[in-house]
Amino acid sequence: KMEKTLMHRQMLIDTASALVADDKGLLAIDESITTCNKRFVALAIPQTEAARHDYRELIVTTSGLAESISGLILYDETIRQSSDDGTPFVKLIVEAGIIPGIKVDIGAKGMAGHPQEKITEGLDGLRERMAEYVQMGARFAKWRAVLTVADNLPSRGCIEANAHALARYAALCQEAGLVPIVEPEVIMAGEHSLDRCREVTEEVLHTVFNQLYRQGILLEGMILKPNMLLPGLACPQQAKLDDVADATVNCLLRAVPAAVPGIMFLSGGQAAGLASARLNAMNVRYKSQLPWALSFSFGRAIQQPALAAWLGKKDQVIAAQNILYHRAKCNRDARKGQFTD
Ligand code: 13P
Repeated sequence: KMEKTLMHRQMLIDTASALVADDKGLLAIDESITTCNKRFVALAIPQTEAARHDYRELIVTTSGLAESISGLILYDETIRQSSDDGTPFVKLIVEAGIIPGIKVDIGAKGMAGHPQEKITEGLDGLRERMAEYVQMGARFAKWRAVLTVADNLPSRGCIEANAHALARYAALCQEAGLVPIVEPEVIMAGEHSLDRCREVTEEVLHTVFNQLYRQGILLEGMILKPNMLLPGLACPQQAKLDDVADATVNCLLRAVPAAVPGIMFLSGGQAAGLASARLNAMNVRYKSQLPWALSFSFGRAIQQPALAAWLGKKDQVIAAQNILYHRAKCNRDARKGQFTD
């Protein structure tokens, strides 16, 4: 078992609590270069390092963002960048009162022997990479596993391999003093029903927490970042807000230990307003009865409307920042059960 001094444990607990405190949540801006470029192509924004820099500068200099956002998840390219006046992004983020975090997986790759499935890579050399990120000011980290739903998927082999990798990543995080954001994402693509999503998500979460236990993870010093329970995008029967809220909370109550301080959902391609409305419905119905905070760690559901307003244009920066601020606030309101849009 890994050695954790009392002070070290307390630091992890304090960071995890700070990430969910005060009805705030996380903003994920950790798209890899490939993924960020993909979002830019769709809006005819140049796929250059300069454009990615300008976009991330727009985000980290949005005034008042810290009113709703406790932590920002960065990517390797971004954590090394500075604003046009030479101030490192990390310094701007910390001075704004936001905790910097870093995506440390290197992506979900085709899984050998499992033609339709993915395994997330990045464990080799992770201890050394994390030491550098800690030096740069990161206080938490993220690793995303991807599980695809079909009639016979995900396979046990894929679930177990991804859960094991998540647990080894989480152990390295806690050794380094970083709070692990453990993200097993059951993706929305497919024709499956809400109940099938429930079945898969429940199995995935039980497997992940079993592996986290075996690796000696301090549950009080981690955050879970799961998918909401939703029918597949191509399922003819879509679900009402309250059905999503009930299914999601019931599944989490069965699978997530009460010692975990926070559950911070990914948005996974849901429209911004819908993601907020669903988080709101969960908090309206259940907030006062739950052992953990139900919060957000959205990427697209906060960024996309702002990106579409910016379009790479200097004279649209303020307009885009106003939209980003608004989307972030919508989700803080949703944590309080007060989201109206
Ligand atoms: P989305 O909210 O766009 O799914 O992004 C969250 C994230 O960090 C995925 O790893």
